[in-house]
Amino acid sequence: MFEVERHCGPTPRRLRETDLPDLVTLSTAAGWNQIEQDWLRLIRLVPEGCFGVELDGHIVATTTAICYGRDLAWIGMVLTHPAYRRRGLARALMEHALAWLDQQGVEWIGLDATEMGEPLYRSLGFEAEESIERWAAQAPGHIAGEVLPVGFEAELDEQAYGVSRRVLLEHLAAGGSYRIRNVGYALWRPGRLAYALGPCIARTPEAAERLIRACLACRPGENWFWDLLPANVAAVELARHYGFTPRRHLVRMWRPGRAMRPRPRFRNEWIYATAGFEYG
Ligand SMILES: CC(C)(COP(=O)(O)OP(=O)(O)OC[C@H]1O[C@@H](n2cnc3c(N)ncnc32)[C@H](O)[C@@H]1OP(=O)(O)O)[C@@H](O)C(=O)NCCC(=O)NCCS
Repeated sequence: MFEVERHCGPTPRRLRETDLPDLVTLSTAAGWNQIEQDWLRLIRLVPEGCFGVELDGHIVATTTAICYGRDLAWIGMVLTHPAYRRRGLARALMEHALAWLDQQGVEWIGLDATEMGEPLYRSLGFEAEESIERWAAQAPGHIAGEVLPVGFEAELDEQAYGVSRRVLLEHLAAGGSYRIRNVGYALWRPGRLAYALGPCIARTPEAAERLIRACLACRPGENWFWDLLPANVAAVELARHYGFTPRRHLVRMWRPGRAMRPRPRFRNEWIYATAGFEYG
């Protein structure tokens, strides 16, 4: 097995579509839900912000960074293959991604940290803010959803996040989508272990329920994941109502930039499901 050079260190490079088989191997080895389509979406969405370290002819570690304008970026897919851990690969990739984001002049950087990732992020200046949880359930076998218009509400999403995520939503909506004009929208997509619900942004719990029910009704009886912020009590109640239970606990962390511009304000009370840990 290749020994990482102590002095030179591992050299991150941009991910390419030809890396897809390695990338799927990597996320599957960690027990994550991503499929090839998820990696492809990231590479196409932000080709200059997807980084990997290649050793022994394979990508064995990754980190991705998405900029939502200059005020906010999101880090995700911090993964090292089990056979290559504790050699500084994740640290090298994070430092590379953060340097790239600094070059872009991005102010605030957020991420959703697993217990394994948290010490690394703390050492790089990230501070924990709040919990974020993955809930899971098998959708009811006989669930009837309303027929709602297809699409998303980019302006409402911007009001919920304080930044434009339109490009992300355009890519994610290729899965499934429902909208209620000016009131809310919900997206879903397939995954390796379960369908992934989210994002779901809605002004009221009633709208969120209509949207989420419509999504679940597309794949009744199937396994679903739903990433939510426990701070949104209405989202928790809704998840319980549909039989979801918490499976994974992560922590949302932030690193401020140099200019000290105020952080984009997230309206957690409108965020019923996040887009996924890699997107925020
Ligand atoms: C978290 C993970 C990416 C770390 O990858 P890695 O390449 O082994 O990390 P590094 O060798 O660069 O270590 C970086 C730091 O992480 C911490 N760390 C890494 N592995 C650790 C472990 N098993 N236990 C405790 N801390 C650990 C240490 O603080 C280490 O700092 P050090 O340089 O002072 O030792 C890897 O364990 C992994 O893929 N885990 C599963 C997926 C996951 O949880 N990813 C994080 C998503 S937020």
